[in-house]
Amino acid sequence: MDKEILLLISASVVFLTSHTRVYGQSAKNRHEQFRPLTFEQADKKADSVLTLMTTDEKIALVGGDRSFFIRPLPRLNLQEVYMSDATQGVHIRENFTGFDLSKYRLEKSTSFPSPISLASTWNPDLAYQYAEAIGEECRAGGIGILLGPGMNAYRQSQCGRNFEYFGEDPFLRSRMIEEYVKGVQSTGTIATLKHFVANNTDYYRRRSNSVVDERALHEIYLPPFKAGIDAGAKAVMTSYNLLNGEWCGQSETVINEILRKQLGFQWLVMTDWWSVYDGEKLAKSGQDLEMPLAVALKDAPTLIRDGKVKAGDIDRMAKSILRTYFAMKFDKMKRDTSYYNNFENHERTALQTAREGIVLLKNEGNILPITKKSKTILLTGDYVDKLAVGGGSAEVKGYNNRLMLDELKKEFGDKLTYVKHPNPAQIKSADIVLCNVGTEDSEGWDRPFPLPENQELKVRQCVENNANTIVIVTSGSGIKMTDWNDKARAIIYAWYGGQIGNQALAEIIAGKTNPSGKLPITIEKDFKDSPGYGYIPAGESLYTGWGDRKEKEHPVFDVNYKEGIFIGYRWYEEKKIEPLYPFGYGLSYTSFEYSNLTVSKEMFNENDTLTISFSVKNIGKTKGAEIAQLYVQDVQSSVPRPIKELKGFKKVEMHPGESATVVLRLTKQDFSFWNPETKGWYAEKGTFVIHIGSSSRDIKLKKEIELL
Ligand code: BGC
Repeated sequence: MDKEILLLISASVVFLTSHTRVYGQSAKNRHEQFRPLTFEQADKKADSVLTLMTTDEKIALVGGDRSFFIRPLPRLNLQEVYMSDATQGVHIRENFTGFDLSKYRLEKSTSFPSPISLASTWNPDLAYQYAEAIGEECRAGGIGILLGPGMNAYRQSQCGRNFEYFGEDPFLRSRMIEEYVKGVQSTGTIATLKHFVANNTDYYRRRSNSVVDERALHEIYLPPFKAGIDAGAKAVMTSYNLLNGEWCGQSETVINEILRKQLGFQWLVMTDWWSVYDGEKLAKSGQDLEMPLAVALKDAPTLIRDGKVKAGDIDRMAKSILRTYFAMKFDKMKRDTSYYNNFENHERTALQTAREGIVLLKNEGNILPITKKSKTILLTGDYVDKLAVGGGSAEVKGYNNRLMLDELKKEFGDKLTYVKHPNPAQIKSADIVLCNVGTEDSEGWDRPFPLPENQELKVRQCVENNANTIVIVTSGSGIKMTDWNDKARAIIYAWYGGQIGNQALAEIIAGKTNPSGKLPITIEKDFKDSPGYGYIPAGESLYTGWGDRKEKEHPVFDVNYKEGIFIGYRWYEEKKIEPLYPFGYGLSYTSFEYSNLTVSKEMFNENDTLTISFSVKNIGKTKGAEIAQLYVQDVQSSVPRPIKELKGFKKVEMHPGESATVVLRLTKQDFSFWNPETKGWYAEKGTFVIHIGSSSRDIKLKKEIELL
């Protein structure tokens, strides 16, 4: 049997899972699709209200209210708008520094697998469903603005917020983000693209100056924002850091020039919380809303009187807020608790994300799945009887949280024993050891690439005493595995699975779900190998926790993006550094064969759309899904270009013996680089190679083509 899978490279796909279909396109019909007003319609309404507002009212509107609100104006019937974090579900707040938020309190909110896990599914359709579910939960809580998706780049493994983001590759991030935005906004909730821009470390995050060249900015850091904007995102949050010497939240270059002019963003721009310092600059920059309250603009009346801020600038800011408010019909928005009825579906989506997002990195001698024949399984680890979660504003408590211990017990019953601190004799005597290690990543700081010492010792003790050790990693980012990787029999990268992720993990270990996730990051052998290495000022070291570290007294320091466009796999390939696990990598319980690569035109012009097709066949004994990846290589180029750049992917599920034809399309953009001289994209004539692979390093098929 041969099934034809036709897809446009940027189109979303419906993926059938090994269980039941989650709910695919029909999900979109469970609520009436929300349609915003057009810019012109909303602009008219904004105008009509703006003319009725006093200067004081306008000033009041452009500063946040009670930490998480757009300020109401009862005189003109403007409702308050509540905002809540974040990308992996709704962070429930009851009170916040003295503000009562109980009116917006949700009884519960679903804790989803972290976004890096969602990215590991390489399933944009699932990103839509995941985000739609979060949008529905916002509606249940009366939340008008979701403060997500978080979508910065995985530039280095130590960034405390990597779990909130979508990995290292701009193409994969873009395809996931655009569906995420559509999913959230289909419910009438605003999606906020954050943090703009180049906010890729949380080490003294308010003091780091990202020094990024123009090509890197356009080729690596901006495309996911552009994808989110083109998908209709109605808000952008600027970042804490400086970009090339200017604080992003008050930079004319960042907001007016790049975000508004170059990327075409027309809607609400807000600052990150306490991230701007100069009211004069802020008012001119294109920024609209200072959060959580007016600090830089606290003396706005004086600034206006002294001619430092123009009344017209405040008008522009207020109008942009009003325009977005009316476009989203917030004048009519009501909390809708009937969405509680959909929470079961949300949890199913969370489960499906974990099933597809868990990545199997190693499986020597097919020790996994664990068969019924195994006699004794010893389970140990720090996140066995508590959940591993990411912290900070993105934290979601969830409900009905499933622990790893309970879910594995359901599969293996009395064969499985949990020992918190096993001794070597206990480890040796088990048939199989399941050893969990993990990290507690958080906003506000970065964490070391190596595991905490006690966990490193434990995992080494396990692999050294039992050759059948399966390591389960629960983390939001890459960790150092080099010193035990070779001895581990199997490694499962489970990320932070959210409230139901451990069910998916247990299904994978027991063979009820065939893993299909692939890494959206490169995992290096040593942090020194990474393009981000050396970002911390000499003589300083990482810290953990909010504590009293007097952030503002730390001098501003440069983080030099010296690697330019070569981040992630682009770096490791260019520098010929062997990573431990490459981008795009992940195993299945079955195997796949690739064949028949054809390209519609081997000599093509820049205006042609190329159709690339190839076959993937399941040649194993188990039903499974493969994520086939397409990379473009520019062989003849006048500027340095990566050896490979991801420009297409497709997840296909097949029964044993079944094959699928994957069809992907490439256009001029997929061959182009950013030319700083002409300030535009340029597809240079010459030879390109199309690589089709199962990961960025496992290329199965290749073809040379020529741009005439
Ligand atoms: C974070 C944002 C978040 C905001 C509001 C900030 O500390 O950087 O991502 O949306 O707080 O909670």
